[in-house]
Amino acid sequence: MNTKSVVVITIDGPSGAGKGTLSQLVAKRLGYHLLDSGALYRLVALSAHNLNVNFQDEQAIADVASKLHVKFDTTGDATRILLVGEDVTDAIRQESVSMNASVVAAYPKVREALLQRQKDFAQLPGLVADGRDMGTTVFPNAQVKIFLTASAEARAQRRFKQLQEKGVAVNMDELVSDIKARDDRDTQRATSPLKPADDALILDSTSLTIEQVLSAILAHVR
Ligand code: DC
Repeated sequence: MNTKSVVVITIDGPSGAGKGTLSQLVAKRLGYHLLDSGALYRLVALSAHNLNVNFQDEQAIADVASKLHVKFDTTGDATRILLVGEDVTDAIRQESVSMNASVVAAYPKVREALLQRQKDFAQLPGLVADGRDMGTTVFPNAQVKIFLTASAEARAQRRFKQLQEKGVAVNMDELVSDIKARDDRDTQRATSPLKPADDALILDSTSLTIEQVLSAILAHVR
C-alpha cells in the first residue's frame, strides 16, 4: 500500500497529560485507526516478567519485543489487548508494569524491535499515534504533530482523582515525585527521548478541559 496517502496525526507528551483519552477521541471523531505505543512497551514488560527474563539483559528483552504475540481487539469503543490469546488489558496498567515498561523503553534494541510493528499501524484512512517519540522517530513525516503537556502537579492531581474513584488510597506527594521521576527517565534517555518534534504544536492542558484540548487539536488538524 502507498502509505503516503495515509494521514498520520502524532500525539506525544509526558505521562498523565491526557494523550490516551484525547487520542481515542480524535481517532473516533475522524474514523482513524489508533496506535497506543505505550501499550507495546507495557506488553514487553509484562511478557518479560511472565517469562522470567532478566530485566538487565537488553538483548533478551529485545527478543521478547520482536516475538511479541499481541492482538488489539476493537469492538465499538472498547479495545481489549490480547497477549498470546490472554486478555491483559487491565494487567498492563498495574504500577509494577509501568515501572518495568519505562526500564525496557530505555533499551535501544527494544525500541528498534518495535519500530516496524508501530509503522505498520499506518493504514487508510488515517492513524492517530499516541506516545513519546511518534513525531520525532516513528512517524517523522506525519502531517500533524501535537505535543501535549501539563504541569507535574496537574497530572498528579488527575491521577489522584482516577485512583480515588477506584478506591485506591494514594498520597499526593508520592504521586508528584513518581511522575517527576518518570519524566526524568523518559526525557533523559539516549534513544528517542521525550521531546517535541520541531514542527509540533505544543499544547499545555494544565488549565484546559478535555473538550477544550479536543477542539484545539481538531482545529489544528483542519
Ligand atoms: O504511555 P504509557 O504510560 O503507557 O507508556 C509506558 C512507558 O513506555 C513509559 O515509560 C514511556 C514509554 N514509552 C516510550 O518510551 N515510547 C513510546 N512511544 C510510548 C511509551
